[in-house]
Amino acid sequence: MAKIESVRALEILDSRGFPTVSATVVLSDGAEGSAGVPSGASTGEHEAVELRDGDKARYFGKGVRKAAANVEGELAKAVKGLDAADLAALDAKLTALDGTPNKGRLGANAILAVSMAAARAAAASAKTPLYAFLRRAYAIKSDKWLLPAPMLNVINGGKHADSGLDVQEFMIVPTEAASFGEAIRCGAEIYQVLKKKLAAMKMTTAVGDEGGFAPRLKSHLEALEVLSASIAEGGYQGQVRLALDCAASEYYKGGKYVLESKPLSSSEIADVYASWASKHGIVSIEDPLAEDDWAGWKAMTAKLGDRLRLIGDDLFVTNPARLARGIKEKSANAILIKLNQIGTLTETVQAVRDAQKAGFATIISHRSGETEDAFIADLAVALNAGAIKTGAPCRSERLAKYNRLLHIEAALGGKASYAGGLAFASPARAR
Ligand code: PGA
Ligand code: ZN
Repeated sequence: MAKIESVRALEILDSRGFPTVSATVVLSDGAEGSAGVPSGASTGEHEAVELRDGDKARYFGKGVRKAAANVEGELAKAVKGLDAADLAALDAKLTALDGTPNKGRLGANAILAVSMAAARAAAASAKTPLYAFLRRAYAIKSDKWLLPAPMLNVINGGKHADSGLDVQEFMIVPTEAASFGEAIRCGAEIYQVLKKKLAAMKMTTAVGDEGGFAPRLKSHLEALEVLSASIAEGGYQGQVRLALDCAASEYYKGGKYVLESKPLSSSEIADVYASWASKHGIVSIEDPLAEDDWAGWKAMTAKLGDRLRLIGDDLFVTNPARLARGIKEKSANAILIKLNQIGTLTETVQAVRDAQKAGFATIISHRSGETEDAFIADLAVALNAGAIKTGAPCRSERLAKYNRLLHIEAALGGKASYAGGLAFASPARAR
């Protein structure tokens, strides 16, 4: 058994140029693993706490020296001598040491850095690829290796760009490809067609935080039309579907959803989404409503849940307790999974397993602030999650994940299969 010998931490930068935490765990047999923690912009109210220094003299207060010091101090001391391969015990210790419900004392960014780096170190010690190690460590019983359907965010709005669009993400999902590699080729080709199309419309082709374009289009419907046309021009009609992340908490003001300057009730906006969905073959809508509009979510799932995956991101914040409420109340039929919303790998895996048991679709996700760390690619395969959301086929912090999945698919050879539209099929199952 390889024991944890030491833990180091460093303040590094994410893809937006803001500080984030990196940790390295070293084991008694010399194996080591490092991890970089992501960071969001449209963060949910109920997410675990990202500890920032608040020292305005450095990085406008966004430094993470305190979190890094917590890694090298209290957290390192607590995990020294533990079996790195027992991820559940390790994470339980980290969580108990923090002692708060939202990891606010030591910081979810500090705790998650240790959790992820320990898993990597244990996989290195076992000389096993991370995806296979995670499957074994969490005793996931499946002999299937599903490569996730990529949800490629090709038009950015909301807090991720200054396109003027209220909806944060417009995604293309290659549901009918023969392999993950073919799905990525299809997504990348459509992305290039879209770029030419926008240029021809005299729109900017500069990109937003997640690598998607940020054109100043007239309306949300126009964005959907440009995407549908790009899919057809790319020769992929019928093979690619559309998906949205509204991040609607950002346009929920005074009890109304303010879309294209019009204040709408949750039931009125459901009708708008339904009309977009039927015109443009949308398979899923993430955060169509605000993070605490439980009644609205329940009504929307009753209305649209047999046609669409309604994905809770800010609603569930990868929190098994909030998810349990959503399952019980039939508030949604899918969950977005982000490691740093909850702050340990083990709690993240728990959320995925609970969701899968309830027939919810699971989508493993990046954040708008990312590093070159491709941990989520391995996690998606380990858990047979079915789908992954990690931006456009552009910007290396996004491509690190897609490229890692290409490597995993090649390594698995004939054992791998592509999930395609599986995650989005028969949403009624979840109700
Ligand atoms: P964030 O956005 O990382 O800025 O929170 C991603 C999302 O809302 O899914
Ligand atoms: Zn989201």
